[in-house]
Amino acid sequence: MLPRSTVILGTGSYAPERVLTNVELAQTVDTSDEWIRTRSGIRERRIAAPDEQTSDMAVQAARRALEDAKLQPSDIDLLVVATVTPDLIMPAAACIIQHKLGLPTNTACFDLNAACSGFVYGLDTACAMVGSGRYRKALVIGVEKLSAVTDWQDRTTCVLFGDGAGAVVIGGSDEAGRGLIGTRLGAYGDGVDLLYIPRGGTAAPATAESIANRDHCFRMKGKEVFKLAVRAMDEAARDILEQHGLRADQISLVIPHQANLRIIEAISQYLELPMERFFVNVDRYGNTSAASIPLALDEARRAGRIAPGDLTLLVAFGAGLTYGSALIRW
Ligand code: UT7
Repeated sequence: MLPRSTVILGTGSYAPERVLTNVELAQTVDTSDEWIRTRSGIRERRIAAPDEQTSDMAVQAARRALEDAKLQPSDIDLLVVATVTPDLIMPAAACIIQHKLGLPTNTACFDLNAACSGFVYGLDTACAMVGSGRYRKALVIGVEKLSAVTDWQDRTTCVLFGDGAGAVVIGGSDEAGRGLIGTRLGAYGDGVDLLYIPRGGTAAPATAESIANRDHCFRMKGKEVFKLAVRAMDEAARDILEQHGLRADQISLVIPHQANLRIIEAISQYLELPMERFFVNVDRYGNTSAASIPLALDEARRAGRIAPGDLTLLVAFGAGLTYGSALIRW
């Protein structure tokens, strides 16, 4: 018999030890603590050690999620890793993580690239696979080592991003109406060049010159992305609420993608939901792309911000330009 619901059994997160403050950054690029704080809400971000890989951060977050779920690596048969910064272009980071975590060899392992919306895409994918009855327990990890693809000379991007990881364990449940109750995913593929890595892919392989020009680092048209982010996240939130016949004020906590405090404040205004109902940690981590929502989700749970029966809304936006929302009943 198919499980009636797919539920989150445990959460975990990890952030590298090294804290990079705005004041420190202002010593290397032409910026200031004041500019970064007022334009983005970011005070500091975490930076992975040079020998600390995406897979290492993922493993730390996954171990904490497994511990929280009171499960062993041997219980997992599906691993979905949302990332745009895998250890290697090939093979998938998921395979490296599987090996480091000691997951069984009959675990389905793959990476998923939906940038900052990656975790919401991964959650939907894993829940569909577990909900089909073909997989028992899944690990969904959002992880990024963005510091490795940041142009540290470009003040318009380097002040905004950071490294980290978050993970959840998914399982089936016979209790109806609990767990992931819906998702709304989409993309505006006409916005590819608003946030992308120009070189290093098959269309434009890296050359000595492109590397010297740091074209293997990401570029962003911040203003355009900002406007689209607010519009798409507002729409994704409204659509999913409408689909499920819910009002915004029935949501106990919104866990938005942590890109910019001003984006979160704009969504709070559009949804007419006070900022107290939004979980915010962008001040401490900056934008960690696919890691942002699961890292915030884990912190929110551990801080006691989520109680049984609560309705949580996840809402994300990122390169692609992808967007997604998800409703979870705890
Ligand atoms: O993860 C998903 C995608 N990412 C996002 O959601 C990010 C979306 N965008 C943003 O968060 C904001 O657009 C930014 C934080 C990137 C920029 O804020 P803004 O209010 O849109 O500033 P702006 O780009 O219009 O720049 C204003 C000024 C410019 O100077 P001029 O042209 O007015 O003289 C910039 O050159 O600020 C300048 N500027 C800086 N000044 C000091 C840009 N970056 C910096 C900096 N420090 N780091």
